[in-house]
Amino acid sequence: MRKNKEDPGLQEHVVDSSALVQAINLKKYYPVYSGVFRRIKGYVRAVDGVSLSIRQGESLVLVGESGSGKTTLGMLLSKLTQPTSGKIIFKGLDITDKIPKKLRRKIRVVFQDPYASLNPRIKILGQVIEPLIAEGIEKKEAEEKGYKVLEAVGLGTELASKYPHELSGGQRQRAVIARALVTDPEFLVLDEPTSMLDVSIQAQILNLLKRLKQEYSLTYLFITHNLAVARYIGDRIAVMYLGRIVETAPKRTLFSNPLHPYTKALLSAYPAPDPEKPWNPEIPVDIAINPVKLPGGCRFHPRCPLAMEKCKSGTPELVRAEKEHYVECFLY
Ligand SMILES: Nc1ncnc2c1ncn2[C@@H]1O[C@H](COP(=O)(O)OP(=O)(O)OP(=O)(O)O)[C@@H](O)[C@H]1O
Ligand SMILES: [Mg+2]
Repeated sequence: MRKNKEDPGLQEHVVDSSALVQAINLKKYYPVYSGVFRRIKGYVRAVDGVSLSIRQGESLVLVGESGSGKTTLGMLLSKLTQPTSGKIIFKGLDITDKIPKKLRRKIRVVFQDPYASLNPRIKILGQVIEPLIAEGIEKKEAEEKGYKVLEAVGLGTELASKYPHELSGGQRQRAVIARALVTDPEFLVLDEPTSMLDVSIQAQILNLLKRLKQEYSLTYLFITHNLAVARYIGDRIAVMYLGRIVETAPKRTLFSNPLHPYTKALLSAYPAPDPEKPWNPEIPVDIAINPVKLPGGCRFHPRCPLAMEKCKSGTPELVRAEKEHYVECFLY
């Protein structure tokens, strides 16, 4: 296995070829420019060698602090951005470079801000059926489908002819979910879909997503900062830190037996007494990490309370700690 400071250890052995979605050594590097000539002065390695599998019907939750690469990974898996390298396999087909139309509609995304996701000048039904119209489906047929998915998300016919500003935040997010459902997807990437909603509304939307997952046999990649949300919606949890997945485990295992020092730090702040309060992990936050110049060795070592000498130079590999429980840390 090739490994050095610049090329982190491969995680390919966690890939399960029978999974619905597979990422194989995925990387996304964003160039960072400087000066008037906009010369490239470095790269942000937003996703830096991620391999993972999401099984049919599973809800995989991605947690990790701001800037760890969660959204970038979600955008890669939903084909909204091209990887720098690596592969994406969906239903056994390599879709890295090209995705057939009939598979394109099977992967849909719901973002955090329902208001930004909707066009203020188009009525709800029009927005919901827009993906179908874009595919060339006849308006009447599209509208029939539109009413069906609106009903499925709990929005009655009377809301179909309203504009986004006439809806509440929760109703708007329901409309966005309806639009995601309208193409009969199999895989949904949900990027903090409830984080902009009031707490009571969050719970309703989470319940809705849980129900829809059953009714429509969906598979989720669910991105969240909120461990209570992760615990509620997830089957399995993946913890991301500076572009790497540092631990994955079934939900129960992760909460009862976290292994990576970063995961332990995340969980030490859970359960937060006040879900509205920002989550405050007990790891040193005063250590500034420059995303363009990542620390050598294990990238968590400058903040790790258990760092050993070899963590400063060597790159840990993802190892299997127990069944379905993987961790990337020299302690194991
Ligand atoms: N289009 C872009 N151009 C350059 N850098 C980017 C771009 N998008 C993201 N980044 C950088 O990539 C890294 C990962 O960003 P990303 O948005 O994926 O993180 P995140 O985990 O979703 O964070 P958050 O929790 O704040 O949403 C960050 O350092 C970010 O600044
Ligand atoms: Mg994000």
